[in-house]
Amino acid sequence: MCGIVGYIGPKEKKEILLDGLQELEYRGYDSAGIAIIEGKKLHNFKAIGKLKNLREKTKNYTSEGFGISIGHTRWATHGKPTELNAHPHLGAYSYVVHNGIIENYQELKEELQAEGVNFLSQTDTETIVHLFEKYHNRSNDAFPAFKETIERLEGAYGILLITEAAPDMIFFAKNGSPMLIGFDNEDVYFASSDTPLIGKAKEVYYLEDGEYGYVKDGQVHLFNKNEEIGFTKQTLTADKALAQKDGYRFFMEKEIYEQSRVMGETMMGRVLDDGIALDELDKDFFEDINAIKICACGTSYHSALTSAYLFERIAKIRCDIEIASEFRYKEPLLTGDTLFITISQSGETADTLEALKMAKRAGLKSLSICNVDNSSIVRESDAAILTRAGIEKGVASTKAFATQTMVLWMLALYVGQERNSISSDILRQEIDAMLHTPKALIVTDKLHAKLHRLSKRYLHGHGFFFIGRDIFFPLALEGALKLKEISYLHAEGYPAGEMKHGPIALADSELFTIALMPKTMHYDKIKSNVEELSARDATICAISPEPFDLADDFVQTQYSSHPMVEFFEMMVVTQLLALEISIRLGNDVDMPRNLAKSVTVE
Ligand code: F6R
Repeated sequence: MCGIVGYIGPKEKKEILLDGLQELEYRGYDSAGIAIIEGKKLHNFKAIGKLKNLREKTKNYTSEGFGISIGHTRWATHGKPTELNAHPHLGAYSYVVHNGIIENYQELKEELQAEGVNFLSQTDTETIVHLFEKYHNRSNDAFPAFKETIERLEGAYGILLITEAAPDMIFFAKNGSPMLIGFDNEDVYFASSDTPLIGKAKEVYYLEDGEYGYVKDGQVHLFNKNEEIGFTKQTLTADKALAQKDGYRFFMEKEIYEQSRVMGETMMGRVLDDGIALDELDKDFFEDINAIKICACGTSYHSALTSAYLFERIAKIRCDIEIASEFRYKEPLLTGDTLFITISQSGETADTLEALKMAKRAGLKSLSICNVDNSSIVRESDAAILTRAGIEKGVASTKAFATQTMVLWMLALYVGQERNSISSDILRQEIDAMLHTPKALIVTDKLHAKLHRLSKRYLHGHGFFFIGRDIFFPLALEGALKLKEISYLHAEGYPAGEMKHGPIALADSELFTIALMPKTMHYDKIKSNVEELSARDATICAISPEPFDLADDFVQTQYSSHPMVEFFEMMVVTQLLALEISIRLGNDVDMPRNLAKSVTVE
């Protein structure tokens, strides 16, 4: 979703901003812009579409000497993706970039309009810059004017503001949208996530909600409420090489191939010979806990759904799953003996973060399962287990889903072990299956070639049904989500046993059924569900170790002794199928239309 970068110092600023925005590109955006002030000179460039359009517009410009600069990639919320709506937004002599949503912008806009201010865009952001200039015109003092501005804003924001009135300062504020400051000697950088700062800043400080301030003469002045406060920097350790494509056509493809390796990292030090060790959790973490509630969105929600089967079956603990955006407004009944788990790849998903805050207000203990350390969700939780998937750049989540599901499986075993609801024999069998998972995730040339070949038969039709039972139902949901995200074809996930309660009415030869038919779990049941579809002439693509006569297409997986191993192998098949269909349709696999990697607005 929207991305912010900023820099104050003597270096060439255009390239710093454009490079930074490039690193945020994978999050999804539909326009971009930069603004630079060097002494009395103001420069502002905006372009709709991809960053290459902005590069083209700025190709004859290079910044000179000391200056202040901000940049932004915008994912449209208020107003269409047009140049006028793109950030930075200009007042008479100041620019602002903003992530989040200013909830009271209509009221502020009307107030400013009544005072004669002319608005150029339809955005909520533009009110910030006009409000700032209103206060600055009165006091002629930039920082108090900025502070007064922030005090008027309601909602979520990460803000950078620069003004000709103070050409040696950058003003910043954070509330609900991520923002960090990067340091390299006297050079100071800003970004809405750490990737743009890798290779530039040596140390970083992650701003907390309610913090604001300014940078001048290489010094950051940080405030909370009315007090100037101190802060502690952290070393920025991420390795940029990990975020490159390594010869794969798309990040999503690379990330599918990486799953086998990263799964080893997810398990490292946690999956032991005779038990599960989660050093992240205090010994008594599950004391007084009698139920689990999990909140998440999208793919993360699907991993949560999978885990509900595991928590109840293995750990014998009640487990409810909720979509975060639904949970927030349903006035849920929460009891103190419930552990509240959030799952998020990015750790910044607005609905999940707000659900977590609600649960905390209700006094629940919280745990997050997340891929990004120091993200808002991790910082907000009582404890966090990191998935260790590495940076995921493809908008369609793959390795994040795999590692989330693995962590949840480990957690189910851990709970069983701590509550003595699992025998040591079963625990050992589960661990043995876990250790087979990396092998099940290997993408062989044969498998990839098979999915490439098959994909050409699935480029039309009036829809896909992915069907499965038990844990293969959430996998069916996830397979359908992957396909629709990057192919733009209609796909649904369904519990196989539900088809005859309605959806089977759609069955004909143009209805494609992707049937997940594991041998270790309810094979005969799902077989008869698929037979019912076949009898109505639906086109069947069966994924199973067991050859199936009625399949029009058949992808054979390995025989295995554990459903979770079959689960992970079938997951790879569905990911590759979506990838190959999308490539054949000529779509942008890594940045599908209308989607954002990190959904930081409600
Ligand atoms: C789908 C996808 C999304 C995310 C969802 C939640 O491929 O990536 O559905 O899973 O937006 O995001 P996180 O996990 O970052 O909270």
